[in-house]
Amino acid sequence: MAGEKGYTYRALDLKEIQNQLHTRFFANDDRLIFVPIIDSTNIRAMQLARMGAGEGTVVLTDSQTAGKGRLGRRWVDVSGCNVLSSTVLRPSFPPYLLVMLASLAVVDAISETCDVVATIKWPNDVLVGNRKVAGILIETSHDHNGQLIAIMGIGVNVNGYPLQKSADEIETSQDEYLPGTQATTLETESGYTVSREALIASLLQHIESSYLALQQEAQETVATAQGSISRLVREQWRNQLSTLGRPIQVRQGNMLLSGVAEDVNDDGELLLRDHSGNRVTISWGDIGYPTT
Ligand code: BTN
Repeated sequence: MAGEKGYTYRALDLKEIQNQLHTRFFANDDRLIFVPIIDSTNIRAMQLARMGAGEGTVVLTDSQTAGKGRLGRRWVDVSGCNVLSSTVLRPSFPPYLLVMLASLAVVDAISETCDVVATIKWPNDVLVGNRKVAGILIETSHDHNGQLIAIMGIGVNVNGYPLQKSADEIETSQDEYLPGTQATTLETESGYTVSREALIASLLQHIESSYLALQQEAQETVATAQGSISRLVREQWRNQLSTLGRPIQVRQGNMLLSGVAEDVNDDGELLLRDHSGNRVTISWGDIGYPTT
């Protein structure tokens, strides 16, 4: 079947994922759920989690009809070309560490699978150069026992070409206000077709290993995840941030702030030095890299 600009795609090969997967239990056996077309893998994963699905349950699809992006936006895909995955987690550590863990896992999986160098735009967009190749949406809730549920949704633009937005989408998309937020795909960046199955297997291995290490640390220290594993995750995430040290624009709803991204604090918040010399702590928003 032909996708964007004639790209030929095929359905996700679950056997191939299972062959390449070396996780302890993430996505093993009935923890791997594939639905060819779905509204949103995050929606399905949250439903399953509320019904008691265990951590490490992974929902995959070839296409979403109502993919969810950050800050209430839509996440649009080209059928059969992307990684669209949601993982059920029940973290005993603060969710901001999941943001770091997920973006690091995507960067590492990309580097292992297709030798493309990716970086992180605060807080968790994954870029190649100045173009976005992957997005992460972490949604939280509580189950009937009051235990925290987190759904880690990851969308990676793998094969084909970047989606051209319709005029209507461009008009309503906040991304378009911000330079440095156009999309790319791994195929565009590497010059060859990339195995979605290999990327998924690598991604899940990275997620599982960091998640289990953080869970163990949280349970041992019975504290707010201040141990050495969480410190390492923070440091690795900070080192991968392409945002630090450069002029940025921050969009928060209708408000636009600008200045220099100086650093991040222990909770992952961004510390912006604005043009009046004030240090502003940014806990949410979209970052753009001005071109002039
Ligand atoms: C962003 O806005 O950058 C986050 C995009 C997250 C998209 C992924 S695709 C798989 C999962 N299911 C969803 O509906 N959204 C996430």
